[in-house]
Amino acid sequence: MKSGPKDILKRTEINITAKCFFGFEETLADELTEFGFQNLEILNRAVRFKGSWKDIYFLNLHCRCAISILVELDCFEIFSEKDLYDKCMKVDWTNIFDSSKSFAIKGAIFSSIFQNTHYPFLLVKDAIVDTFRNVKLERPNVDVKKPHVSFDLYIKENLVTLSLNTSGLPLFQRGYRQSTGEAPLNEVVAACLIRLSGWNKKTTFLDPFCGSGTLLIEAALYASGIPSNIERQHYAFKNLKNYEPLLWQGIYDSAKRVVRELPAQIIGGDISDEMVLKARRNLRTFSFGRLVKIQSKNFKEFQTDEEVFVLTNPPYGERIEAAVELLYGEMGSWLKHTMTGSEAWVISGSKEGLNAIGLKPEKKYKVFNGDLECSFRQFKTYQGSLT
Ligand SMILES: C[S@@+](CC[C@H](N)C(=O)[O-])C[C@H]1O[C@@H](n2cnc3c(N)ncnc32)[C@H](O)[C@@H]1O
Repeated sequence: MKSGPKDILKRTEINITAKCFFGFEETLADELTEFGFQNLEILNRAVRFKGSWKDIYFLNLHCRCAISILVELDCFEIFSEKDLYDKCMKVDWTNIFDSSKSFAIKGAIFSSIFQNTHYPFLLVKDAIVDTFRNVKLERPNVDVKKPHVSFDLYIKENLVTLSLNTSGLPLFQRGYRQSTGEAPLNEVVAACLIRLSGWNKKTTFLDPFCGSGTLLIEAALYASGIPSNIERQHYAFKNLKNYEPLLWQGIYDSAKRVVRELPAQIIGGDISDEMVLKARRNLRTFSFGRLVKIQSKNFKEFQTDEEVFVLTNPPYGERIEAAVELLYGEMGSWLKHTMTGSEAWVISGSKEGLNAIGLKPEKKYKVFNGDLECSFRQFKTYQGSLT
């Protein structure tokens, strides 16, 4: 069980944990399998596997469905609060980062050893600072908002897992979204929904309630094979002592390219002119931006003669329930009568709204957008059938 923290930065094989949102473990595992990782262990909101430091750079850039990429530093048992501090004093933190870098510790504590769940974080922080002091080095500063180096502490009863968070800020901070509306979809959730839906990257993709364009952007990135994090600059691994800028640059350069054509048409719409402008502004970051067509119109005005794949996040925060039900009811009629023969996926936090669609969902998943519980449902309308 014990795997010592010594020379973790020099190891050729490391334990990697990719963290994800509730309900997307299988989706993340599917993506990791596509990358070629094997022997995946599916955990609660995470997937664990083995890899190398090169994989860490690759995953931070390419993985669309993970929130952060962790490297296990140490795993040990404790029986008292003091045990945690003592074990952490055995880690040579000065080997991992230098005192000019700020740090933070986050994580989750499920242990009766601690009365106060903040206290374990304080103990680890003290151990880190004391390790630097003991060898007469300047103490590094704590910065909870934007640390250079991040550690993850997970305690379940007696078992402590201490990891390095090589991403730092969560990977949904993609660096492409400058403007959002009132209820934007989390970027990682959007990427997971697209993968979970099984969109084939060929059929026309339509989001008629596109807001700031998150689903359209993630769909275009996915279809064109451009990493979702191509615009992101911050990665905590760049602040570790083993950072290899040339290795990172090679991985980054081989992913960056100009997209002149998308493999599928990607179309968006929103009733609000302001949101359409915001979505266009966000899309402008990318070479494919002008290939994604966004129109300012009511969803009902979209018509098609060909097969369309609808994936959308309609409003659900309306104060008047009847208005939500009316809107979703109209969406059901539109799907049935105008989009006949198409597949549609809808994510919404309104159960009443989803039920008002009036079509029987073929598939149904419980997911979260931030703290909000939502349902992600697939509807199919068949030519000539009265569903
Ligand atoms: C929940 S938001 C979508 C957020 C989006 N997924 C994002 O990440 O920014 C719903 C959007 O639907 C738009 N909307 C509301 N009623 C509409 C209608 N009848 N037709 C088209 N769009 C509508 C709103 O303007 C809003 O931008």
